Amino acid sequence: MRIIKAKDYADMSKKAAAIIAAQITMKPDCVLGLATGSTPEGLYAELVKMYEAGELDFSNVQSVNLDEYKGLPRDNDQSYYYFMNHHLFSHVNIDKANTNLPDGTIEDSEEACAQYNAILDSFGGADIQLLGIGHNGHIGFNEPADTFELLTHCVDLQESTIKANQRFFASYDDVPKQAYTMGIKNIMDAKMVLLVANGEGKADIVKEAFFGPVTPQVPASILQLHKNVVLVADEAALSKVEL
Ligand code: F6R
Repeated sequence: MRIIKAKDYADMSKKAAAIIAAQITMKPDCVLGLATGSTPEGLYAELVKMYEAGELDFSNVQSVNLDEYKGLPRDNDQSYYYFMNHHLFSHVNIDKANTNLPDGTIEDSEEACAQYNAILDSFGGADIQLLGIGHNGHIGFNEPADTFELLTHCVDLQESTIKANQRFFASYDDVPKQAYTMGIKNIMDAKMVLLVANGEGKADIVKEAFFGPVTPQVPASILQLHKNVVLVADEAALSKVEL
């Protein structure tokens, strides 16, 4: 694992965006595995800036997103479909037909997950998978559990995740309680994993995930077994780790 220490959020965003930009430059038809959440917002803004400056071409890029809330229409401003369009897809020349997210509007979980697994299978793993990390160690919506779920599945979100996401909704009741997410194998199939973390609030979990035991109780800890992981984190998120 490589750890890249950034000064602050802006620096983390720039450094992580540079890694994704290098991937697109090296392989213009690469498969980007993408994440939502507040951590990568700055990184997406950096990619948009590079595109606007003529430094990046997304025309042959394909993408697969980690997860999507179940039951939110795609035009709901809290759906991850909306998020990706708002922060990235609508601002660059990616072909929308080449962008993929689990379809949260499909009521039948089995069908939704089978459909997304088939899409992921057709790519055979992302070239680079971007991840954030939840305070409980979740990646995608793989919550702490007794076993690792391997493939795309429907999850009941944990109380802590619902509360953490409540800030984006009018009330607790409005936060969806289920989501579709890539499984751990889908994530581990990526050729490279780029995890971004910032702020003091992530310091404990960064330490636990990358330096504690590998356990499904801390889903991100599985990344210790991946052979090409880069953690880009700011000083605050790395404050509990000895480097
Ligand atoms: C988002 C996702 C989640 C977030 C995690 C951290 O697609 O899969 O695992 O990465 O909840 O969220 P933020 O960045 O908001 O702290």
